[in-house]
Amino acid sequence: MKTRPAAVRPIVMASPFLVGAAAILLVMALAAFGRVAPLDSGVVILAIVAITAIATRASRQSDAADKASDALAGIDTAVEQFSDILTEPCLIINERAVLIYRNPAALKRFPRAKTGDPLAFTLRDPDLVEAIDKAIETGTAQGTELHIPVPNETWYRASVVPYRPGEDRSFVAITLYDFTEQKRTDRMRGDFIANASHELRTPLTSLMGFIDTLQGPAAKDEAARSRFLGIMRSQSERMSSLIDDLLSLSRIELRQHVKPTTEVNLNLLLREVAETLEPKIEAAELVLDLKLPEEPVTIIGDRQELFEVVENLADNAIKYGGDGGRVEIALIASASRSGDHHAITVTDFGAGIAEEHVPRLTERFYRGDAEANRKKKGTGLGLAIVKHIVARHHGLLSIRSKLGEGTRVEILLPR
Ligand SMILES: Nc1ncnc2c1ncn2[C@@H]1O[C@H](COP(=O)(O)OP(=O)(O)OP(=O)(O)O)[C@@H](O)[C@H]1O
Ligand SMILES: [Mg+2]
Repeated sequence: MKTRPAAVRPIVMASPFLVGAAAILLVMALAAFGRVAPLDSGVVILAIVAITAIATRASRQSDAADKASDALAGIDTAVEQFSDILTEPCLIINERAVLIYRNPAALKRFPRAKTGDPLAFTLRDPDLVEAIDKAIETGTAQGTELHIPVPNETWYRASVVPYRPGEDRSFVAITLYDFTEQKRTDRMRGDFIANASHELRTPLTSLMGFIDTLQGPAAKDEAARSRFLGIMRSQSERMSSLIDDLLSLSRIELRQHVKPTTEVNLNLLLREVAETLEPKIEAAELVLDLKLPEEPVTIIGDRQELFEVVENLADNAIKYGGDGGRVEIALIASASRSGDHHAITVTDFGAGIAEEHVPRLTERFYRGDAEANRKKKGTGLGLAIVKHIVARHHGLLSIRSKLGEGTRVEILLPR
């Protein structure tokens, strides 16, 4: 909060006379005590005039500064107090767009915003400038969006409200409402639809191409027909699995905030996943190690969803880490340091994942090293689904990988 120098002002006003009088007394005293040689009276008078002039000028300057700060401080303490209790950043400017006050939230967000500086030193957005101009011109509240790209990309809705209680007491209050989260969700939704359409269109385009070929040039070519039908079948399967994944993802999202309620025996669950995977394991000529504790481990969860998690992880281990010859699925009771989590780990000893891809693997449609994975079927939704399910179970997901050594995915589930 700013303090007013009003009480000090009369002293400052009186100072030229005080300083002048003090100077005269000083010279008289010095002369009287004989510390200085009896001075030429002209010099004494000149000294007095000079000291008085300097003091007067200093006083005038401080007075002018006071007036300037008065113009800056054209708002009431009540306004300051009110803006202080707002949780959103609030910047108050005068009609020349000079910052006259900022509340603590604004100070925290824009630590370099100084009162007395033009607002443009802090915010230079053209839309905001336009909104301010318009607010001052029309005397009505304006709104605009503000995009601040650095250091952390932030989006604000700015409300620009002019206030004119009296001639020189007018100000404009700019309040910023952060809606970055919503902007991000919107963008993600947009990206998601674009990606999903693209992923569906690719096999569809290829299907249509084959249909045309079969109806036209290859109509009577038996060999080509059976080969093309094979490809068409696999493209349709790809579309179908993509749709399954999309539905699964949207179902999980719908239930994201509903706590699971049933008891799930994890030993049984893992055994069942292993059985389901047998054909794939055999086809890839792999060994599957299933490591289960003696005692039954149960948690409260959604059986089908947890099944999907382990199946997805094991599918990845077989698909991308199959070169290692072995895949391990393990259940560890009371795994975390505090002992209040059980862990499920899926480990492979294959090619591993380059470090830069690891943090992005759970993004929808992210497929790591696209070039290397082109030959392997996948939609890039598997780990996104895993992440959602684990979150719904209040669990933790971690992926550790080393190029050439393999990948280990760990899921911690609360007991
Ligand atoms: N065990 C692993 N070893 C190496 N790379 C992996 C492993 N698991 C996942 N990845 C990489 O992560 C990417 C994303 O995996 P995710 O399971 O989300 O999608 P996908 O397997 O491509 O498709 P989907 O699971 O929907 O069939 C994969 O494309 C692959 O590049
Ligand atoms: Mg996968």
